[in-house]
Amino acid sequence: MNALRNPLRNVARRATRAQLPKASPFRPSYRSYSSAPPPPESKGSSSTLWLGLGAAAAAAGGAWFYFTDAGNTAGKSGVQIVKVAADFVPTKEDYLKVYQRIADLVADAGDYDDGSYGPVLLRLAWHSSGTYDKDTKTGGSNYATMRFEPESLHGANAGLNVARDLMEKVKEEFPWISYGDLWTLAGVAAIQEMGGPKIPWRPGRIDGVATHATPDGRLPDAAQGSDHLRNIFGRMGFNDQEIVALSGAHALGRCHRDRSGFEGPWTFSPTTVSNDFFKLLFDEKWVWKKWEGPKQLEDKKTRSLMMLPTDYVLVQDKSFKKYAKQYAEDQDLWFRDFSKAVAILFELGVPTQQFTTSEPWVIPTVDEQQEASKSQEASKSA
Ligand code: HEM
Repeated sequence: MNALRNPLRNVARRATRAQLPKASPFRPSYRSYSSAPPPPESKGSSSTLWLGLGAAAAAAGGAWFYFTDAGNTAGKSGVQIVKVAADFVPTKEDYLKVYQRIADLVADAGDYDDGSYGPVLLRLAWHSSGTYDKDTKTGGSNYATMRFEPESLHGANAGLNVARDLMEKVKEEFPWISYGDLWTLAGVAAIQEMGGPKIPWRPGRIDGVATHATPDGRLPDAAQGSDHLRNIFGRMGFNDQEIVALSGAHALGRCHRDRSGFEGPWTFSPTTVSNDFFKLLFDEKWVWKKWEGPKQLEDKKTRSLMMLPTDYVLVQDKSFKKYAKQYAEDQDLWFRDFSKAVAILFELGVPTQQFTTSEPWVIPTVDEQQEASKSQEASKSA
């Protein structure tokens, strides 16, 4: 039994799923953000037409067009089948059901890692969004191109098949949702269900084809330094403060020798969202680990925690350090900034007109949904 296991999962939670509250639990409190539409890369392909139609339909809140790819390979993208679910228009309640299903899976991870799929789901959402290039307006969460080779095989995405396979189960149950919406909603559910801040989210991403995939090298390389981080995140449109805020996600999860080559968790509570990542960066003495693997740091005291070279630059670079210190001292501040930055991250590459609502939704956690339904029942019987 892993000492880091989250007690959360041991609670026999969600044995019975509450009915969704009738009153809208959403609170519109988020500035609009999205990016201009990426230019289609596959000229002359009928997919361009279908994508255009899909976008128009999504914008109108009408029929959903989505693609399925039997083999999930680039070679098969030409034989994708276009399905038109003209008789089904998903509502907020339908998305809440997907959220609940994902939340079940997050908590029900058995002996996998630290007992939660949350961290790997968040990594999937981030890697599918973080390919965005603001200059060419390519990449981002819109087309969920990590379904295709070679993007699924890019070194940075090693191990994310676990998360994609898991989401496939949800997709089977809710075939109307696009992969981009599903993966980003999973990122939102992961953060919120592991005790993090609310991440405003809205649907509208459409499934693309293999030719929309981005080249390798768009995601950060953990072995590098501050210039690299600024180049990579700057390309997505993020500044120093946002880079630091986003990096706090490493409070969660762990590195796997057989995925990235690195090894170990960053914090003692890798399935709880907290500012521990920043606190530990300042409070512990970090030394280079002596081993056969890639350069990483370990905490001198317990030698059980790790930091990547890119994590460590957050306390070495003067500008990064300023924000890291603020987040170490004030978790609420980090929660606010993290929420804003993640909401932006998950919308990268999605043309504004594709979103079905102008204001993103703030989705209640499963516990909040159950509470709301209990008090509804209580007021009915009173
Ligand atoms: C700053 C640049 C970043 C670098 C260089 C980086 C690198 C890495 C590496 C090497 C791993 C280990 C993968 C494995 O072996 O399983 C990892 C895991 C992870 N990363 Fe990052 N990352 C960065 C930013 C982010 C951001 C922005 C997020 C989310 C907002 C994030 C979320 C995660 C999570 C949750 C895990 C744990 C996954 C698991 O437990 O399976 N990372 N990252």
